[in-house]
Amino acid sequence: MGFKDEIKRRRTFAIVSHPDAGKTTLTEKLLLFGGAIQVAGAVKSNKIKKTATSDFMEIEKQRGISVATSVMGFDYRDKKINILDTPGHKDFAEDTYRTLSAVDSVIIVIDVAKGVEEQTEKLCEVARMRNTPIMVFINKLDRIGKDGFELLDEVEQKLNIKVRPLSWPIGMGPGFKGVYNLYQQDLNLFSPHGKQEQHDVISVKDVNDPVLDKHVGGSAAEKLREEIELIEAVYPEFKVEDYLNGEISPVFFGSAINNFGVKELLDCFVDIAPPPVSRETEERVVEPNEDIFSGFCFKIHANIDPNHRNRIAFIRICSGKFTRGKQYHHVRLDKALRISSPTEFMAEKREIVDEAYPGDIIGIPDSGNFKIGDAVTEGEKLHFKGIPSFSPEIFKYVDNADPMKSKQLAKGLDQLTDEGVAQLFTSQWSGRKILGTVGPLQFDVIQHRLQHEYGALCKYSPVNLHKVCWIDSEDKSELKKFIERKQDYVTVDKDEKPVFMAESAWALQMAEEQYPKVKFHTTSEFE
Ligand code: G4P
Repeated sequence: MGFKDEIKRRRTFAIVSHPDAGKTTLTEKLLLFGGAIQVAGAVKSNKIKKTATSDFMEIEKQRGISVATSVMGFDYRDKKINILDTPGHKDFAEDTYRTLSAVDSVIIVIDVAKGVEEQTEKLCEVARMRNTPIMVFINKLDRIGKDGFELLDEVEQKLNIKVRPLSWPIGMGPGFKGVYNLYQQDLNLFSPHGKQEQHDVISVKDVNDPVLDKHVGGSAAEKLREEIELIEAVYPEFKVEDYLNGEISPVFFGSAINNFGVKELLDCFVDIAPPPVSRETEERVVEPNEDIFSGFCFKIHANIDPNHRNRIAFIRICSGKFTRGKQYHHVRLDKALRISSPTEFMAEKREIVDEAYPGDIIGIPDSGNFKIGDAVTEGEKLHFKGIPSFSPEIFKYVDNADPMKSKQLAKGLDQLTDEGVAQLFTSQWSGRKILGTVGPLQFDVIQHRLQHEYGALCKYSPVNLHKVCWIDSEDKSELKKFIERKQDYVTVDKDEKPVFMAESAWALQMAEEQYPKVKFHTTSEFE
């Protein structure tokens, strides 16, 4: 197969959901269809169980499991599918934001009873920032849940996306009869706890076909006709182009645990989801079918063996063919890089890979050279965009608790924050360091890892912060003035970018009003 055909057949995406909506179950069913696993239950949930919130060792153990499921590749029809796993726990949301930078599309799973939940909103916002095409799967139709139209309204409002149902449920809960597939014009009849083969799929001419009445009963068929009529009247005609531009999201209904509606989703996904798309860099747009190799690191998984401080850097290939053993270039370090044992992930297995293509993810063993966002090229100095840091939500001062080990502490903090466990801000005025995270768990993880991997002791003390904002201004003297006046509240991030630490929403508003020429950004990347 030629280079361009290899690229065209790749589909790299992530499934995101609020915990418990059914992401793991859906992933597993997709893998079953792809023949990547043979039995249900083979995919270990990387979900960090609620009971373990105070037990971070348990969390580290569970994160260890998740390295195996970081990327799940399999073939389906003539396509190579790469599913990128995202952590379910909200304290690791930042990991998910970064993973979303490495995909070409997203499937969102929503629980029919719970509707759109908080974490889904945030994740969808990140996907939308990049105009990533989104498909929606409404799960658990075997249970009583919200009305279909009510849910679609909720999805449109809370996720701020336009939707178009491509399947429609007939009843729900104990009265769930199946789904009418508007995409393929057929009727998929539901039998609880059946395998896909046991669900009968019946071809219908259109929604007026009397075959419908025969299978779901006259009144359910009538209701379905009314609802389909409403859908056709209210929702725009589905155009693949609109989906690819991130303007409209097709919606499917089903029940992952019963393997129902999953094949329809997968078949439509394979038909319309985008192959690897172009990537923006600070220098230029990189097209996947360029001959020259390029990729970037979007995730670092550490602690595979705590005694050896080894890590895997995950690289998304953006252009060109990757060849094992060939000499590449680490752009930030301006250093040659020969990758002798890159790994590829196929469901539960990790294998050395000799070549890989745009859309693929390879794992590189790393002893501390990689940082999130780093580019690997054939020599060109590229800096990929779209991998910003987001304002953390929880902050603490971090100080040295063992004066003999200050070097170890500095190194540990440097490497752990390169991995993206937390963000590090340094006060220009006092030199004190502040750690910012999305959730409280990371503080425990950092303290533990500093001690066990770097032999360093740290102590935390509270700092009252609402948000951090990256600042800039076209008027450099105004920016300088702001930094001088607010020196107590200005720090720099790891890339030496100035950051305003706002104590409250009010303080931020005041700063914005007082310094109209200064721009305040909640992510580290801005135009
Ligand atoms: P997550 O990765 O999004 O967190 O969700 P996961 O797939 O682990 O599913 C959460 C729970 O919902 C699981 O039950 C799972 O069996 C159930 N589930 C998934 N899909 C469906 C569905 O279509 N219908 C129904 N009724 N339930 C579904 P659990 O009791 O938490 O775990 P388990 O003991 O069954 O594994």
